[in-house]
Amino acid sequence: MKIAVLPGDGIGPEVTKEALRVLDALSLPGLTLFEGDIGAIAYKRHGHPLPAETLEMARAADAVLFGAVGDPSCDTLERHLRPEQAILGLRKELDLFANLRPAKVFDGLEELSPLAPEQAAGFDLLIVRELTGDVYFGDKGERVNDAGEREGWDMMSYSVSEVRRIAAIAWNAAKTRGGRVTSVDKANVLETSRIWRETVLEYAAEQGANIALDHMYVDNAAMQLVTGPSQFDVIVTGNLFGDILSDLASAAVGSIGLLPSASMGSRQTEHGTFGLYEPIHGSAPDIAGQGKANPMATVLSAAMMLRHSFGLEAEAARIEAAVAKALADGIRGGDLGGSHGCEAIGSAIIERL
Ligand code: NAD
Ligand code: IPM
Ligand code: MN
Repeated sequence: MKIAVLPGDGIGPEVTKEALRVLDALSLPGLTLFEGDIGAIAYKRHGHPLPAETLEMARAADAVLFGAVGDPSCDTLERHLRPEQAILGLRKELDLFANLRPAKVFDGLEELSPLAPEQAAGFDLLIVRELTGDVYFGDKGERVNDAGEREGWDMMSYSVSEVRRIAAIAWNAAKTRGGRVTSVDKANVLETSRIWRETVLEYAAEQGANIALDHMYVDNAAMQLVTGPSQFDVIVTGNLFGDILSDLASAAVGSIGLLPSASMGSRQTEHGTFGLYEPIHGSAPDIAGQGKANPMATVLSAAMMLRHSFGLEAEAARIEAAVAKALADGIRGGDLGGSHGCEAIGSAIIERL
């Protein structure tokens, strides 16, 4: 079982280190780790945020454990050299079109959520975010418009096949959860969304009635996630809407430091499905290097890796239970109003494994 570890920038290395300590504490046989540079650190060392050797390392692995990329010193670089291009490039190059972002308020920890307790108690959903299409990957550029003004443009599109394959992921997920899918779009305005909605409807008709499907406009979905989250089970949506709604979901759960993700394609390895696992948060430059980051999102991402890429369900569940127990015992990072540092949180999880 080969894991490419890409810690990246800012708090990336701090949170990744704790996830690796947790994995180490499980003493899994046959695990080999490779570490590579990515993001701003890779740009500084190799002149590119996604060096060829890092991409090769990721390709050769059975799974990738990713920290975060992004650094304010790189914000003025040309787009193709910005650290964010490294994660976008990895997703595209590895064809990781499905991003699973589960968000659940931990049992008994409703007080961590800014939602009313009865709303918080019903917050348990999975965002299935399409990850290699949409306005993220369309043609983009700058031009001078008719009025002689500079203008930026980004092309948004979805093809039928792109929508069908992400719908299939959502359907499969819904079968193992509550059997409900909400497809989120902006079909009242966007042609991209009209094709999205028609394709999801067509896919649903082919699949039969075992999954309950409804459609919601993205603005309404943002509101309903706060006012009535228990109506959601699986949300399937495009790249941009999924990015925004998953940060909203992280706030509802209590902190962005708690939400893991799995990015999957269709490539099978001898152990399971190849995937990239990362917290949904970024490099948090405001707290980087201070030992304050909450590593739980990355630890939970490692658990998703064990489940999806290595078929180690029991070990994944053990990690998740240890994180839940640590939270129940009052272990809180600064993001949750507590004073436990990154390493202390890692140790608290390991003690409870
Ligand atoms: P961010 O997620 O890095 O931070 C948002 C806020 O949440 C900050 O106040 C930060 O301190 C806090 N936070 C985030 N993770 C935390 C954790 N584990 N524990 C405690 N607090 C945490 O988003 P941003 O500030 O918009 O972006 C910073 C940089 O990260 C940018 O360069 C951005 O492009 C990049 N980014 C990268 C990824 C990724 O690598 N996948 C994701 C999002 C943002
Ligand atoms: C995320 C991030 C990335 C995205 C950025 C860093 C490119 O916000 O993983 O959610 O927009 O997908
Ligand atoms: Mn995001």
